Amino acid sequence: MIDHVKRHLEEVQKFSSSNVEEIEGFRVKYAGKKGVLNDLFAFFRDVPVKEKKDFGKELNNLKVAVNEKVKQLQLQSKTSSGNTIISDPSRTAFPIQTGNRHPLSIVKNRIIDIFTQIGFSISEGPEIEDDWHNFTALNLPEHHPARDMQDTFFIQTNPDILLRTHTSSVQVRHMEKNQPPIRTISPGRVFRNEAISSRAHCIFHQIEGLYIAKDVSFADLKQTLKYFTEALFGNSKIRLRPSYFPFTEPSAEVDIYWGLETETDHRITKGTGWLEIMGCGMVDPNVLKNCDINPEEYSGFAFGMGIERIAMLLYQVSDIRLFFENDIRFLKQFKATF
Ligand code: DAH
Repeated sequence: MIDHVKRHLEEVQKFSSSNVEEIEGFRVKYAGKKGVLNDLFAFFRDVPVKEKKDFGKELNNLKVAVNEKVKQLQLQSKTSSGNTIISDPSRTAFPIQTGNRHPLSIVKNRIIDIFTQIGFSISEGPEIEDDWHNFTALNLPEHHPARDMQDTFFIQTNPDILLRTHTSSVQVRHMEKNQPPIRTISPGRVFRNEAISSRAHCIFHQIEGLYIAKDVSFADLKQTLKYFTEALFGNSKIRLRPSYFPFTEPSAEVDIYWGLETETDHRITKGTGWLEIMGCGMVDPNVLKNCDINPEEYSGFAFGMGIERIAMLLYQVSDIRLFFENDIRFLKQFKATF
């Protein structure tokens, strides 16, 4: 009988296959409930005592050989064909490939994080907006030429309803519902009827900031922006250039110093070394009045920036369309480190 066990051992050692079903058949034949091993163990009970030691040893060798062979063949077939037999439920799980955040979400969350750390709340408003909140209350009355700065999608049946062209509309909504002191940032999607190119898209994202309290000055605005740009870009230099927005007075555009080291730096900064990153200014008294806030008592500042623009700078992406095409090879490169 011992020879019988030895023959099985030889057969087990010789067996080889990369076919999942054949391996499973082999496993059942030897280690299954009605398999060879169980039969031999049943037989072992009746083996005369003096033969038990040798027989037990051979039987154990066979058992170990079967288990090892099954394990080895299963592993080989898995790595070569991608098939998996879950015969060992205690084995380590294979890592599941997870997705990652969209680069625009990563940058948005980072900006939110920087402002919430200095006491700003987050507010949101509707993407389908009315004329009052998007334009009129922001000191852009009907026929005001500055309305042309933002080519607007109107809802055809009602010229009073439109897709918001900027998140400044949320300023108005927030001031209508809250009394100063106000410190809030408003992230969101905005829409403009523009020709799509490497630098423009009809749908994009902005973050608006608003701070209203007593005795807020331009110096507060500048310091807040300095804190923000340093937190986001590291040690950086900014400058404020006089500009015009109907809802702020005075108004400025914020540039960050990018440098002029490479040819690309020359191209993207148009030879100046500076890049515009946002608009800002002191909230126009007319806007405060429109929201029932007394401009004699309160003052404040506002700013607005495009998230795509910031993301393009941070990640050195040269075409805005990449953010909307959702090509997995592009998206996989961004990891949320904050
Ligand atoms: N709403 C402006 C735009 O979309 C950006 C902006 C400029 C927002 C100045 C502001 C501001 O709050 O003060 O181009």
